[in-house]
Amino acid sequence: MKDDRYSWWAKWRTKEGRKWLLWLFVERWLRVIPYPNFRGFLLRAGGAKIGKRCFVHDVVFQNAYVNGFKNLSMGDNVTIQTQCLIDLADTIILEDNVTIAAGVAIFTHEDCGAKLGKPLAQYFPPKRAGVLIRQGSWIGARATILAGVNVGECSVVGAGSLVTKDVPAWTVVAGIPARPIKKIGEQASN
Ligand SMILES: CC(C)(COP(=O)(O)OP(=O)(O)OC[C@H]1O[C@@H](n2cnc3c(N)ncnc32)[C@H](O)[C@@H]1OP(=O)(O)O)[C@@H](O)C(=O)NCCC(=O)NCCS
Repeated sequence: MKDDRYSWWAKWRTKEGRKWLLWLFVERWLRVIPYPNFRGFLLRAGGAKIGKRCFVHDVVFQNAYVNGFKNLSMGDNVTIQTQCLIDLADTIILEDNVTIAAGVAIFTHEDCGAKLGKPLAQYFPPKRAGVLIRQGSWIGARATILAGVNVGECSVVGAGSLVTKDVPAWTVVAGIPARPIKKIGEQASN
């Protein structure tokens, strides 16, 4: 017999499925808004905390159905550049003056397909964990930040890096996996 549990119609018949479809639509629609400032205003309407002078370009919000945009919190003067992937399965906190360059991916969950009974799920069970990026930090283009990572105050993640562990404050990290390459500010040795 045909298994239609994952069809659009089956989704529409459950409350959870309707919520999923609604947020899918809202998220797609949000991407076509041309003005980044106005996108911030709409995100706020959808439950996000957005500070002053925030610019959110045409990014993809994954898993918005979990909690709307409530899992996103941005301080003042925060920029998220074009083509980023922001996973809202858990909380993402971007403090004041954070810059997220183009194409950055921030993940807050891991799931290799547990609900669908995929075999690797017994070794890699689903997990959700928030990401915190402290004030003043700069995440370089196409870097990837994994679930549960904290980036310390005024730190830099080099372009294309893969951040698997916490980044200390005032530190430049780079590479795959990202490793500290230098200290900056008062912590730098002269
Ligand atoms: C990290 C960054 C800020 C450079 O910092 P820096 O302190 O000037 O570092 P340096 O250029 O002196 O490089 C120091 C070492 O780290 C390496 N390095 C620098 N950036 C790196 C990166 N993104 N990935 C891997 N290694 C990197 C350099 O090759 C150099 O290695 P070496 O000592 O073996 O020669 C810069 O490389 C970067 O990634 N900027 C982000 C650019 C970006 O995202 N632009 C988009 C618009 S915002």
